[in-house]
Amino acid sequence: MNDVTLIPTDDGPYLVEGSITLLDAEGNQFEVSDTIALCRCGHSNTKPFCDGTHEKANFAAANRAATSSNRMRSRAVAGR
Ligand code: FES
Repeated sequence: MNDVTLIPTDDGPYLVEGSITLLDAEGNQFEVSDTIALCRCGHSNTKPFCDGTHEKANFAAANRAATSSNRMRSRAVAGR
């Protein structure tokens, strides 16, 4: 059983459920024990957290878990 769950939402942030330590780009540390939303659209004014701006920015991304065959294809394209 995982202690942390990461959920990429359609057209929105990554939701992180569970207790984590988050370090921002400047090394500021946040202890988080609730669900948080991390920006992945790049438009949030409260990065690394989502502030809802993705809706105004019309951010679009639908994610589904990759199957093992298309994960291998992705690695080949990325050169890994
Ligand atoms: S994902 Fe919500 S503001 Fe970027």
